Amino acid sequence: MPVRLLLGDARRLDGVADDSVAFALTSPPYPMIPQWDAQFRAFGARDYAGMHDVLADAWRSIYRVLLPGGLLAVNIGDALRRVDGVFRLWPNHATILERCVAIGFTPLPYLLWKKPTNKPNAFLGSGFLPPNAYVTLDCEYVLLFRKGPLRAFARHDPARAASAYSRAERDRWFTQVWDDIRGTRQGGPRSRTGAFPSELADRLLRMFSVRGDTVLDPFCGTGTTLWSAARLGRRAVGVEVDPVVYRRALRTGRALGIPVRRP
Ligand SMILES: C[S@@+](CC[C@H](N)C(=O)[O-])C[C@H]1O[C@@H](n2cnc3c(N)ncnc32)[C@H](O)[C@@H]1O
Repeated sequence: MPVRLLLGDARRLDGVADDSVAFALTSPPYPMIPQWDAQFRAFGARDYAGMHDVLADAWRSIYRVLLPGGLLAVNIGDALRRVDGVFRLWPNHATILERCVAIGFTPLPYLLWKKPTNKPNAFLGSGFLPPNAYVTLDCEYVLLFRKGPLRAFARHDPARAASAYSRAERDRWFTQVWDDIRGTRQGGPRSRTGAFPSELADRLLRMFSVRGDTVLDPFCGTGTTLWSAARLGRRAVGVEVDPVVYRRALRTGRALGIPVRRP
């Protein structure tokens, strides 16, 4: 299936038609994580609320391009940072939930992606003395939203039937905590791009889209969502704002032998 790759801005989604996308799967830059500070600053965001204002513009554009019944999945992690002398949690998942509901999305039960770790004792605090240690943030979220009522299908829709998962897959995938998908290797070249693993994209695409659907990743980075979508018989559109990352995604698509169209 072809992939369309656009150098552009998720806040506008120029070139993506209204009501054209069945499933948007994405991982945005995470507010309050040093890796993404410069990018948020370039968009004029100075603080936590400002960073979420930037992301909310993207959620609003995604709402525009989703077809009725279309779904949005957002992979996001919370953050820890000291601001004005106070070290605290910045609950990105909760803020995105609130912002998306305010836009009009229907929130759905979400997934907790617990990355298996090689450091079970990763720990922030002082020795073994209570009460001032911190719980480790070892889960990320996959938030799920729908635009409007359930998507309608004809009885015995052949594309839907061809997209079925097995009973074993259903039993494993539709539990809330996923602990069987490793994160992208830390320190590897893909971790610096914030890439998520293709296993995560494959599973979510099979759960929430149908063969032949159009899938969008508005913060597509290295294109993980797009290559998984193409392999799984979905059409894909990716949007990336950074020209260096965009060119890298173009090269990756070509290396994988996936036809990539540019506007
Ligand atoms: C967490 S990374 C996504 C990684 C991606 N899931 C992958 O597997 O490679 C977020 C990406 O969004 C891009 N980005 C940030 N702001 C953007 C915007 N306004 N429009 C489009 N892309 C943006 C960043 O350059 C970065 O590549």
